[in-house]
Amino acid sequence: MTNQKPWDRQEQARYMADVAQIMQVRARGEMPLALVRTYGCQQNVADGEKIKGMLEKMGFGFTEEEDQADLILFNTCAVREHAEDRIYGNVGALKNIKRRNPSLIIALCGCMMEQEHVAERIRKSFPFVNLVFGTHVIHRFPQMLREVLVDSHRVFERGDDSEDKTIIEGLPVHRDGNFRAWLTVMYGCDNFCSYCVVPYVRGRERSREPEAIEREFRELVAAGYKEITLLGQNVNSYGKGLENPISFAELLRRLDAVEGDYRIRFMTSHPKDATREMIDVIAGSRHISHHLHLPFQSGNDRVLKEMNRKYDRAKYLELISYCKEKIPDVSLTSDIIVGFPGETYEEFRDTVSLIEEVEFTSLFTFIYSPRVGTVAAKMPDPIPYEEKSRWFSELLQVQEEIAARRCTGMVGNEERVLVEEVNPKTGLLAGRTDGSIIVEFPGDLSLIGQFVNVRVTAARNWILRGEQISPKE
Ligand code: 5AD
Ligand code: SF4
Repeated sequence: MTNQKPWDRQEQARYMADVAQIMQVRARGEMPLALVRTYGCQQNVADGEKIKGMLEKMGFGFTEEEDQADLILFNTCAVREHAEDRIYGNVGALKNIKRRNPSLIIALCGCMMEQEHVAERIRKSFPFVNLVFGTHVIHRFPQMLREVLVDSHRVFERGDDSEDKTIIEGLPVHRDGNFRAWLTVMYGCDNFCSYCVVPYVRGRERSREPEAIEREFRELVAAGYKEITLLGQNVNSYGKGLENPISFAELLRRLDAVEGDYRIRFMTSHPKDATREMIDVIAGSRHISHHLHLPFQSGNDRVLKEMNRKYDRAKYLELISYCKEKIPDVSLTSDIIVGFPGETYEEFRDTVSLIEEVEFTSLFTFIYSPRVGTVAAKMPDPIPYEEKSRWFSELLQVQEEIAARRCTGMVGNEERVLVEEVNPKTGLLAGRTDGSIIVEFPGDLSLIGQFVNVRVTAARNWILRGEQISPKE
């Protein structure tokens, strides 16, 4: 059972007021500036927007310039070693900035900071970092920041056992986008895939009440957001622990019923929990994009078992064929790990053959990275990294051909595109189709943030070119 305890909003509001006052003095009457840099997945981006929401309430403005900042905060990612190394490098580089500006506050939060060994390394090797806190305690950020400012000592905090089961509602949010928004529906993960650190750093699976989600969703639609992405590590097990359990399919149905000009995306789905009911809801919906991100990780049954994924190749393919039958224009994407400990080249080829069979639109492909504390990190891993890199390139090449073929097959289609930006290199507008494929076309800047019907005229690898269809056509 989740613990949806109301956090002490008033107490945090008092801390926010204190921080605002202290910062005003420190910034000599000018608006203090914060630089917030978020690494990793959308869940982290959503957390970053809450942290920015709190900073805003504490009187901060935002900057991208390290030299202008009164506070620098890195919201970190722990999913792979490469992400962690990059963050250590970037934190190290702050030393000089702190030397130039000794009153700069440096804070680190996010998944990396939930790990004891990381916090220890920061404590020892990066003495200029003032504040370190994990994912479970972000609602206490104002209190921790005040402690740093008032007591001038370093603060290190991670959640206790109760906090990794808690849901905090009502934190302020500073949304970075004007037309795309993130909406977290559940937190944490209970799956313990053997390679993955997420269940250790994001705590137990817990779902927000559907009423709270629907309220926020309606607010976003009313505020004009055109694309709302529902977030959770495993959205397909949404609703299980609630007092009145509901399925993710039912949640989708409820949200789709809200009137408005918008589309819904969601991630991430887990094949073991994805249901035909959910696919039926997407097929019959008005607003849910025909795009399913369904990570399969490996196409080989022995590797899947070692990964503790709890489905096999046949079950995955069965789900995919149901999906293609019900949603013929579905766009499928996936995550893949190459070089899991003990994986042989023949087993890796099963992943390649699955890719060829399904024909994904695009893939997020990763070379296995050992994570402290996970089961896989203790498994024998005899294949050298260079060899895994070769497999990785082989897979990418196959996927590039598939993506190019799929894109070429779309020439002549009419697509509804949400325009996101201008590509500075080509001067063309760039947006995404319902299936999340990038389309570029000439058009007016005022179309950014709008849906536009576009006819696809050409495909360049996995990017489409097109032209706007005038409303008359
Ligand atoms: N090594 C490589 N990739 C990983 N992922 C998660 N943990 C690891 C790891 N230890 C990948 C999975 C997951 C995605 C978010 O990151 O493919 O779906
Ligand atoms: Fe990690 Fe598996 Fe949970 Fe995804 S489902 S966050 S891969 S443990």
